[in-house]
This record gives sequence, structure tokens and C-alpha cells, in this order.
Amino acid sequence: MGIFFLLLGKPGAGKGTQARRLSRALGIPHISSGDLFREHQQEETDLGKLAQSYFARGELVPDDVTIRMVRERLGRKDVSGGAILDGFPRTIAQAEALEALMSELGEHLQAVFYIVVDDEILIGRLSGRLVCRQQGHTYHREFHPPQKPGICDLDGSELYQREDDTPQAVATRIRVYGNQTAPLVRYYKDKQLLIEVDGEQPVERVTEEILAALPQREGL
Ligand code: AP5
Repeated sequence: MGIFFLLLGKPGAGKGTQARRLSRALGIPHISSGDLFREHQQEETDLGKLAQSYFARGELVPDDVTIRMVRERLGRKDVSGGAILDGFPRTIAQAEALEALMSELGEHLQAVFYIVVDDEILIGRLSGRLVCRQQGHTYHREFHPPQKPGICDLDGSELYQREDDTPQAVATRIRVYGNQTAPLVRYYKDKQLLIEVDGEQPVERVTEEILAALPQREGL
């Protein structure tokens, strides 16, 4: 049995930041649907070109292509010990598909960490976020600046601002989250998988809370 759990939260809640830290701590892969789409965009695949139009507007890519992409990723060998899902599922249809995928793998989700952050703080985080080209490490112009401006401390690659971190796209992403993703909170609460985490604490504290909650889950 592997360790499978997911991080749920509004855009900018810190899902990617936490997933990368937890992946290092637990030695299991971080699977981010947003990062998978960005890889497709960089490689200019058909899926990357399709995703581009949704991304730029801050809207969700259709369920069928998203589910196919995640299914393919979960089928790879490195997932045998478990995985941390970030940004997937984002709709009830995706959550149902994930349940089916998990049972095909003979696995089940052990926890859903719901990272809660106030909208005003999210907007400040996203408008100042910088991301590295090579591995997606995240920084913030004000709260977590790189040592050398414009350069990733960890791999030396260039830092850039995501095209969906503009004020207009951020507003759409928060609205889309409310309409399409927020219902997952009730969905996973009903399944008794939801664990709420205060995402306004320092990064290290949020990681500690998630790690401390994990061993209490059945199957870990
Ligand atoms: P995606 O890449 O998943 O974006 P998102 O969910 O909007 O989340 P973000 O990556 O913006 O935020 P995050 O929570 O990871 O925050 P981060 O750790 O970076 O998706 C992008 C697009 O892809 C979607 O709009 C959609 O088009 C498409 N897509 C993806 N998945 C899909 C799906 N399943 N179905 C359909 N379409 C899909 O942190 C943000 C900033 O805050 C950083 O600067 C960080 O340094 C800082 N920070 C983090 N934690 C803290 C803290 N505790 N204190 C202070 N600062 C912090």
C-alpha cells in the first residue's frame, strides 16, 4: 500500500510549495496537474496548445483531457510507493474519476489536506510570485525573494511570472474555484478524509502540521 493524499485549496494557498517539501520529506512523487500542463506547453504538444487557452484566462481545462493526463501519470512506476496530488481533482467528476483510478491501482486516498487562506492574502501572494523555469521552485518578490534577483537559488535557472498571475486571471481563478472546486470540501468531508490546515502560518509550520497529521491516518 502506498501513501496517497491530496492538497486542496484556492489558487495561491501554498499547495505547490507544500507538495514539494512533503515530497522531499516522504520520498514520494509530487503530481501537480498544473505542472503537467505547463510541461506539455513547453514541449508544444497538442494537449499543451489546448491547455494554453484555458490557462491564460484562468479557467479549467476540460475534465476528459485532464483525467486522461493524470491517469497516464499515475500509471508510471515511480508511483508505486504513493503520491502527493496537487491541483487534481478540481471538480466532482475528477474526484469520482480519481476514486476509480485508485481502485484500479489497488490503492485508496488516505487524506485530503484543505489549506485555508484568506482571499486578500492569496492575491498578494500570487501577484508577487516568481517561478523557476527549470523545476518550478517558487519565490515571492517580498516574502521570499531569491538571493540573486531573477535567479533560482536551487538550480540557477531564470525566474518568471506566470501568465495566469495577472490580476484579471487571478480574479477568474478564485471565482472558478468557488464554482467548481469548492464543492469538493463537502465531498471529502462526507468521506471523512478532510483535514483543515491553516495556510496563513509560516511555510515550515504548515508542513509540520501536515506531517504530524499523516501518521494518524489509517493505513500509514
Ligand atoms: P495550478 O498550477 O494548479 O494553479 P493553482 O491551483 O491556481 O495554484 P497555484 O499554483 O497558483 O497556487 P499554489 O496553491 O500551488 O501556491 P504556491 O505554493 O505556488 O493550475 C493552473 C491552471 O492549470 C488552472 O487555472 C487550470 O487552467 C489548469 N488546471 C490545473 N489543474 C487542473 C485540473 N485538475 N482541472 C482542470 N484544469 C486544471 O504559493 C503561492 C505563493 O505564495 C508563492 O509565491 C509562495 O512562495 C507563497 N507562499 C506559499 N505558502 C506560503 C506561506 N505559508 N506563507 C507565505 N507565503 C507563502
